[in-house]
Amino acid sequence: MDTVYTGGSTGPNKRPLDCWRTLIRIVFHHDQGTNKKMNPKEIQVHADNLTFKYSSEIIALQNIFLKIIAGERVALIGHNGSGKTTLARHLNGLLYPFSGKLWIQGIDSSTQRVSQLAKKVALLFQNPDDQICKRVVRDEVAFGPRNLGYPKEKTDRLVNWALSDFDLLPFQRTNPHDLGLSERKRVAMASILSMDTPIIVFDEPTAGLDPYEIRLFITTLQRLKDRGKTVLIITHDMDFVAENIPRTICLQNGKKVFDGSSRELFSNHELLSSCRLLPPQVVRLSIHFQQTTTAMTPEEFIDGF
Ligand SMILES: Nc1ncnc2c1ncn2[C@@H]1O[C@H](COP(=O)(O)OP(=O)(O)OP(=O)(O)O)[C@@H](O)[C@H]1O
Ligand SMILES: [Mg+2]
Repeated sequence: MDTVYTGGSTGPNKRPLDCWRTLIRIVFHHDQGTNKKMNPKEIQVHADNLTFKYSSEIIALQNIFLKIIAGERVALIGHNGSGKTTLARHLNGLLYPFSGKLWIQGIDSSTQRVSQLAKKVALLFQNPDDQICKRVVRDEVAFGPRNLGYPKEKTDRLVNWALSDFDLLPFQRTNPHDLGLSERKRVAMASILSMDTPIIVFDEPTAGLDPYEIRLFITTLQRLKDRGKTVLIITHDMDFVAENIPRTICLQNGKKVFDGSSRELFSNHELLSSCRLLPPQVVRLSIHFQQTTTAMTPEEFIDGF
């Protein structure tokens, strides 16, 4: 089964799977999980002129160049249909470039099986129901580390850590499908964190979460930073970006139109508007009251007075 997907031999440029349920049949095999300590300067993700087409008419990504180094926290933003999820799916091998290259930790992704990339990159799916495949929350969260071949002790430790981080210990024996959407989303997040990969991609992690749940996620992000993980977060929430993510990449119609500091992006109102994005609320407030402040967050705004 494995070889069917090696190097994307099943179609011109797309692996024939669209959800985690399909993925589980092929993803994890014999390879033992590895999680070597990264050199802080090491390039984790390197897209070199990456272009992807779903068909001759639908060019989802065009000539993307980007580099993300170990330990960076990067936001990926853009209007609906701008190509964010398509790019995320390249990182864990669900898609691979039509032309150009994507290097993950220096290895050409198109030479890697999904099972090999699963040791390096964990992807939170935009819709948790595409990801959840077990009938018990604890089993769902243990699925990744078990299949990566981690010893039982390490698996238990990672599972307990992930369940606790997302306040899921009371639900560990529950069927995830009996939980509400935001709880299922937390289960999906815990499931990818328990894999303990060096690179983690979150596709719209805060959508549908309440402020308490967003706070849990922010605390987890801080822990990931402390542990040197590389994190890419797809989001439409500009306040979240302003408060938590120093670097932002912006896509527009499949092209990268900005890659730099989030502060610089939020001062470029013309670009934001052309990408159908609104600046963070604090920036809008400053504009409304004709303030010259560069504050992006409520704390910075208050400090300015
Ligand atoms: N499986 C697919 N088959 C054909 N076209 C697709 C497929 N998935 C996405 N597309 C198209 O590719 C483009 C990029 O879609 P993608 O889902 O990557 O955007 P996105 O930025 O994640 O959007 P959103 O913010 O709505 O999640 C869009 O034009 C979309 O309609
Ligand atoms: Mg998307």
